[in-house]
Formats: sequence, C-alpha cells, structure tokens
Amino acid sequence: TKYTITVEPVGREVQCDEDQTILDACLRAGVWLPHSCTHGTCATCKVDKLDGEVDLGEASSFALMDFERDEGKLLTCCAKPREDVTIEADLDVDEDIEVHPVEDYTGTVVVLEDIAEATKRLVVELDREIGFNAGQYMKFSVPAGDGGEEVDRTWSIGSPPGETTRLEFHIRNVPGGRGTDGWVFATLAEGDQVRLSGPYGRFVLKTGDDRHAILVGGGTGVAPLKSMVRHGLEAGEYEGEITLYAGGRTRAHLYDVAAFRELEEEYEQFTYRPCLSDETPEEVAADGDDPDGYAYGLVTEVIEADHERLGGCRGYLCGPPPMVDAALKTLMSRRLFPRDIFREDFFDES
Ligand code: FES
Repeated sequence: TKYTITVEPVGREVQCDEDQTILDACLRAGVWLPHSCTHGTCATCKVDKLDGEVDLGEASSFALMDFERDEGKLLTCCAKPREDVTIEADLDVDEDIEVHPVEDYTGTVVVLEDIAEATKRLVVELDREIGFNAGQYMKFSVPAGDGGEEVDRTWSIGSPPGETTRLEFHIRNVPGGRGTDGWVFATLAEGDQVRLSGPYGRFVLKTGDDRHAILVGGGTGVAPLKSMVRHGLEAGEYEGEITLYAGGRTRAHLYDVAAFRELEEEYEQFTYRPCLSDETPEEVAADGDDPDGYAYGLVTEVIEADHERLGGCRGYLCGPPPMVDAALKTLMSRRLFPRDIFREDFFDES
C-alpha cells in the first residue's frame, strides 16, 4: 500500500510505501529533509506531524522522548505511514545546494588497500553515474554474516563530484564492528560486487562565495574534506582560501599526505596542515623525514597557534564527536559564528 506524505511548509507531495520510511521516500523523490544518522539516534530528522497515523519505528527513547511522541513529533528516518500523513519540517533550504535524489546503485570494488594504521581506501566503480555534493555520504548494505541479518553502514565520499562513476571511501576499522571488522577488513576483496545507496547528508561545501574555508578532520574524517578540497581546487569550484587541518596521532595515522602536499604546491589558495599529536619533531627527523612538514599537537592547538581571529571564515569539522566538539569550541573562541560552522560526526559503530 502506498500513502501520500505532504511536506509543509513547501506543500510537496511524495508517495511512500507502508514499509518505507518517510525520509527514504522523500529523499528518493528529491525532496530534501534534514537527516544525519538515518537510524533513529541523532534526532536531526525530528519533525512535527500535522496529520495522519504513523508507526514510529525504531526511534530511540532519547532521540524521541515520550512527551515529544505525545506532541506528535516523529523521526522521519524511522517513521512509516499508516495512512496519508502531513509533516512540517524546518527545511532551512540552502538555495545554492543542489538536491540529488537518493538512488540505489551496485558497484564493483576496484581498489581496497591499506593507507594508514587500521585504515583502508575503498574505491567502488558504480554501474552508472551518480550526482552528489562534495561532503556527502553513501549507505552500504553489509551482507548478512553467518546467521546474521543484513545491516547498513555509512561512509563519506572522499572523491570529488566530478568523478561520477568512481567513488572513493576511507574506512577505519572498529574492532567488533559488523561493517568494518566483520566485512571491509575481513572478507571484502577487489572484484566483489557491493550494493549502496545515496547520496545522503548536508555536510556540504558552500561554493556561493569566497570565504576562507577552514576544514578540520580527525582520522578518516578527512574523507569528505578531501572531496571538498579536490572539488574546490581541481574543478575550480571555490575561489576562496582553503585550509585543511588533518589530525592523527602519528604519521602512521595520516594518509594521502603526499597528494595533499602536491595540491598545496599547485594551488596558491590551499594550505595543508597535517598535525601530529603523539610525535615530536625529533622523532620525525630521526626517521629522515622533514620535521617542518608537520605541525605538532592536537588540531585544536595548532589552529589556536595559527590564528588569532577567524571571523568571516567558515568551518567544516569532521571526525569523532569529542574532536568535533573541541574544534567547534576552538573556532568559536576565534570569533567564528556557530551558524558558519558545519559538522559531521563519525560514530564508532561501524
Ligand atoms: Fe538521525 Fe533520524 S535520528 S537521521
């Protein structure tokens, strides 16, 4: 059975299957709704229900509290219609950002290689072209293991939107994680077929003006930032300065250092700051590496030392939530407004 979802205040109507979530139906129809985790924990997708009966699904009790259920709120990533439904969402649509409908794809694994400590690069050749914005992510179907059931895992796209059939991902192993320990780092191999859908997310490089973009990534949080950097520089989509802070404990935790350095050489507008929190210049020099090629300390400490003021810039933060929170505080202490700071949190359930 299909029901009609009406999305206010824009008045768009979308058809939704009874076993489909409202978010999925809308994103596939090209109707933007806010979302992040897509599985009922982050509350980004909370909206008001104006009319109609829904099954609230797997919404966690902290993302959607009892009193909110009583008030008729729902999480669009969990709720499924039981009749025609009208919702009201805070769309806050950025006119500059193109909406690419979510679609299903199959792809072939063409590269699966180690790039850093417990970190792999996965490159997938899609069965057809995809449109997305630099910074968005895809959802993979992780095949059912022995007796288990299929689960979804999301990873940010690290390649730029100009590469329309070849998507790159950077994946860090999470011990015990079904998608990583149990799949990408266990059985997945080059030549394998994968199923994925997307694009999702609104952590997107804003290209409408030329404000200095401060990108801050911890670990594989660099992935969406790499997409933004390459899109901004190589595709000529960004006029302003771009500075990338990439944090890792040691050099073994960083990746694509040489590639970023080449971009830095080639593009005057780009600055690359690889930051080592657990290595000293002496240790780097002892290995015959140039100690001046790195900054030392946490990304937040390096940013604080680099900049007195960042007013008028934009911040893009991606990584584990504690790093993102710390970087947010740092940027705010340097006079960046919260409305100019965008974040993508990587939760460790992979
Ligand atoms: Fe996170 Fe719905 S709760 S997107």
